Amino acid sequence: MIQVRDKAFRVYIPKDEISAAIERVAGDLSKTYANSDPLFLCVLNGAFMFCSDLMKAFTSPSEIGFIKAASYEGMESTGKVKFHEAGQLNYNNRDIIIVEDIIDTGNTLKALYEYLGKHNPKSIKVCTLLFKKQAYQQSLPIDYVCFETENKFLLGYGLDYDGYGRNLPEVYILND
Ligand code: IMP
Ligand code: MG
Repeated sequence: MIQVRDKAFRVYIPKDEISAAIERVAGDLSKTYANSDPLFLCVLNGAFMFCSDLMKAFTSPSEIGFIKAASYEGMESTGKVKFHEAGQLNYNNRDIIIVEDIIDTGNTLKALYEYLGKHNPKSIKVCTLLFKKQAYQQSLPIDYVCFETENKFLLGYGLDYDGYGRNLPEVYILND
């Protein structure tokens, strides 16, 4: 059990299970994208750790880009999300793989799909470490999933609580 800020969390997915799931998904991606020079799009901040390990296990030529999604945190979700690239990215005619830490309501993903769609990509697929299936409110397919999870607050391996806990090498769950 660990304490982060004012909350207690317990281990939910240990390191070795995370590694095994990433090997499996990276293997699938390596086959599908062997000859297409895909662009992995890491959604900051949460996906940085997952994306790093995923890319190390991906064996074909590829590029990586970083995009930051800024939603209206602390307020009722309006579904409005803005995106800022770190440096210039060319989406034109590219096979894009969105890399996410977690898909919850799917609002961020939907907005990102719409944003990317304006830039003439060849294809867009989604790869996520965690998927809260019961919370998902969109109809876009989630193509590559490492773990379907409970609909509870998760932490670690990139995910934060109030800015903290991203460095934890396991995924934790709120202990309530
Ligand atoms: P959405 O509801 O699918 O748009 O999720 C938006 C973002 O909320 C995710 O990319 C995460 O950054 C954050 N988020 C959702 N669920 C959790 C959680 O359980 N722990 C930490 N962050 C979360
Ligand atoms: Mg995220």
